[in-house]
Amino acid sequence: MPGIKLTLPKDRELFAFVFARFIDGELTGIAEGQAMQYAPDLRAADFLARQIRDEIRHARLYKNLYAYVSPDSPAPEQSWLLRQITNPVSGRLWVEHCFLDKAVGERWVHYLMQMLIGHTQDTRIVKTLQAIARDEVTHIAFGETQVRARIAHSRFMATYLWGLYLRVDYALAAAYRLTRSVVSRRYSAEGAALLDQFFTEYRDKGLREVAQLLGVKPRRSVGRMLFSQLIYLVRWPFAGWWQNPVRAFRAS
Ligand SMILES: [Fe+2]
Ligand SMILES: [Fe+2]
Repeated sequence: MPGIKLTLPKDRELFAFVFARFIDGELTGIAEGQAMQYAPDLRAADFLARQIRDEIRHARLYKNLYAYVSPDSPAPEQSWLLRQITNPVSGRLWVEHCFLDKAVGERWVHYLMQMLIGHTQDTRIVKTLQAIARDEVTHIAFGETQVRARIAHSRFMATYLWGLYLRVDYALAAAYRLTRSVVSRRYSAEGAALLDQFFTEYRDKGLREVAQLLGVKPRRSVGRMLFSQLIYLVRWPFAGWWQNPVRAFRAS
């Protein structure tokens, strides 16, 4: 849909909604601090520290963008339902964290940003999004490298992570179904068309790219998702406790 352009003031409401959700997303970046405790080494911990600073800076930039598109009202809180569906499930193992938060969660945010960059006619919005997107690409790449290193010798881990991804994939389909009627009522025809594209074409693109990262077939399976969720929920709660950047640094 190359001809579609989002503009102000026509798409004020859509921009405000997206930037308010981006502020939420960036602030969850502060939770990256928890992953610091089980980073495999100091280099990884150092990356996390820099990433947290990036996410805090992004939250400020999005707050400014929100004020730019909607100067008269503060950013609304996310609804409980949307939060349950779309919030990333942070992992308790380093590989889960790198996969769910970075390779998957940030990938989806980046898709949405790319779509906005390609279809927005407003220099300030586009330039800010481009600057943030550059950082997000480095976060995704770091996550992917860490995941690749950890699934290289474990077919089981790759299929387990694929099941975790399917939870995200199905959650996106549910979010689309729930928000579709609201979207077409509230936003412009262009905005609704772009969100349609996001939830259909980008959902398939995500499925293909993540499958390629894990070296599995891009096949949806409710059984696979439930199996991975079960492992995730019931396995030993202290998984990963032995991994600690301070211990690794001392031992090196
Ligand atoms: Fe960010
Ligand atoms: Fe990020």
